Amino acid sequence: MNIDVVLTPPEIDLLPNRDLSGATAVVFDVLRATSSMITALAHGAEEIYPVCTIEEALALKKAMPDARLGGERHGDRIEGFDVGNSPLEYLAPGKRIITTTTNGTVALKSCEKAHEVFVGALLNQHALSELIWLRQPQQLLLLCAGTFRELALEDVFAAGMLCAKFPNAELTDSARVALSLYLEYQEDVLGLLQKARNGRTLKAAGREEDVSWCARVDSQAVVGVLREGAVRPV
Ligand code: MLT
Repeated sequence: MNIDVVLTPPEIDLLPNRDLSGATAVVFDVLRATSSMITALAHGAEEIYPVCTIEEALALKKAMPDARLGGERHGDRIEGFDVGNSPLEYLAPGKRIITTTTNGTVALKSCEKAHEVFVGALLNQHALSELIWLRQPQQLLLLCAGTFRELALEDVFAAGMLCAKFPNAELTDSARVALSLYLEYQEDVLGLLQKARNGRTLKAAGREEDVSWCARVDSQAVVGVLREGAVRPV
């Protein structure tokens, strides 16, 4: 297996033009989009529709009036939406959710043509690695969703943690960077999240509990798969 890591949003922008049909993709937006999705799936959500824009979310809501509208802009709940993007808001998520976030949902949509697309977080690393062992893909592409146009440390760390589970895999240079970050901070996951830009922003906004929740490695045993526009439990 070959593992490549897409480190930044500008690289993610290029993915829709790449042939990903032979790749299995995993998207990480640890703080907080993919952690919220994993939390929702672990607590009974059956379908999550990620979309890139608020307009798309509202149009989809018209077609699915029972769905809850979730997501964020600048970290805050979008006006008129039911929930924001805190994982703690997804402990009683309802069955169907439509969500739009700044980076996480965009990263998911960018690789939807991959052979399979999984939703990754720190919360579900074990479940994710088990699934990948079963699937044995030739090409594993790990996407770090980032923050606005920049790399996010916690996403690279999560990608590195997954790389560490496959010691015989061939790693690209970016995967080696991710693995090195993981090896440096593996004993201090919460500390790494708190040091990261997103962790500091969330703390300043009084959302430290979100950071601690997202740092709970292997606390959820579910993986989401994106298929035909919706993320469902595998
Ligand atoms: C995003 O998708 O950009 C993030 O998850 C932002 C957030 O923390 O809500």
